[in-house]
Amino acid sequence: MTNKMLIKNGTIFTAADSFSADILVEDGKIVRLGLGLETGSGDTVLDAAGMEIYPGGIDAHTHFALPFMGTVSADDFETGTRAAACGGTTTIVDFVIPAKGQKLAAAVAAWHEKAAGKTAVDYAFHIALPEVNAQVLAELPAVVADGISSFKCFMAYKGALMIDDDQLLQILRAAKEHSALVSVHAENGDMLTHLMKRFAAEGKTGPEYHVLAHPAEAEGEAAHRAILLAAFAGAPLHIVHLSCDEALREVAAAKLRGQLVLAETCPQYLLLSEDLYRKNGFEAAKWVMSPPLRAAANQDKLWAGLRDGFLQSVATDHCSFNFKGQKEMGKGDFMKIPNGIPGVGDRVNLLYTCGVRAGRLTRNQFAAVIAAGAAKIFGMYPEKGTVAVGSDADLVIFDPARKGEVSVRTTRHNVDYSAFEGQRLDGLPAFVISRGKVVAKYGEFTGEKGHGRYLKRKKFDAAEWCH
Ligand code: URP
Ligand code: ZN
Ligand code: ZN
Repeated sequence: MTNKMLIKNGTIFTAADSFSADILVEDGKIVRLGLGLETGSGDTVLDAAGMEIYPGGIDAHTHFALPFMGTVSADDFETGTRAAACGGTTTIVDFVIPAKGQKLAAAVAAWHEKAAGKTAVDYAFHIALPEVNAQVLAELPAVVADGISSFKCFMAYKGALMIDDDQLLQILRAAKEHSALVSVHAENGDMLTHLMKRFAAEGKTGPEYHVLAHPAEAEGEAAHRAILLAAFAGAPLHIVHLSCDEALREVAAAKLRGQLVLAETCPQYLLLSEDLYRKNGFEAAKWVMSPPLRAAANQDKLWAGLRDGFLQSVATDHCSFNFKGQKEMGKGDFMKIPNGIPGVGDRVNLLYTCGVRAGRLTRNQFAAVIAAGAAKIFGMYPEKGTVAVGSDADLVIFDPARKGEVSVRTTRHNVDYSAFEGQRLDGLPAFVISRGKVVAKYGEFTGEKGHGRYLKRKKFDAAEWCH
């Protein structure tokens, strides 16, 4: 028996178009778009009059249940994807991070184990490559064939995840050969280590030194170097969690030269500033992440980068740690504060209020940065990232009249604080739909554990990006 849903009277916004249409969904797929559509009795009908319909959000940067810096991130695939659903995100892409010496296949299997049967929305994986050797290179074709067509390389976290330029070049060449995409964490790990050692020697141990040990120059330098190495290898490049103008200028210059360089930023870099490190005593640990929050002047540049197409997507880098017991591990030594913040449930709402409603993004740009950009970059388009016949019925239906506030009191994240506490929300998702199933209604979870499916992503397609 087919499972049908009709969404009537809404206005649809994709990255490319705005139009009024009813949406007929059958067995999780959009089968018709048009005015005055009808369906049979017994089928689900949603009235979206006065509402705005967008493709379901894609958060292409999460770390659920990640063992990191001596602890494990607080949201797992169950709590993380439930929060995602409640906040308008219907697909997440998490990072498999192998241990050194571990077979990539074993690390991927471990991530499948963590996710299978737990997720409320669809999910895919990237893989991080903390070392490069013959075994890793030999395994890459099988990893790509398995739907993991993007590799994250760390230019920071020296002594742990960081690789050197020779290794990065090897990965860039391999990625090119196998039509995969290299994403870099662009910070100069040697500079950061140098600064951390200096601060330690001077007894500067508070969280306010985290930002001083991670200067924007280190991010700009690493972005520049990664772009140069990618050009040398003839490979495309993607920069994750870009936080500052120093790095953005490198991306823009590369694009204007005709190089295929793509980049994401995150809500924290668009909306929060480094002042938080100075104001809050040890509570500043809540915002310790890498790269760190930057001077407020960067925010306008990043919004402009999104509008101008130098940045194609906004992801969260959701890597949540409780303040109590986890962030507190770094009391007396900021280098021991687990890096990361929560945000997977907040991203779409923050961008709607602070982007669309604040006049910084058009509704089409909003659809692009919450969904279409990541879908195209990471081989999920047009199944995901748009509202079109044949696409998965993944939708976020905004009620622009509904108001709210981001708070730890209402968060769905499994963590004891909110990074965006007190931010007013002007417009909220009325319905969030994942493959034709309503998974959240006015912020209440209505989905089910295990509904989410693993997505095998296509290979990287440079043709999506005219440059
Ligand atoms: O602070 C961060 N970003 N934590 C997660 C790991 C990473 O570098 O993405
Ligand atoms: Zn990173
Ligand atoms: Zn990350």
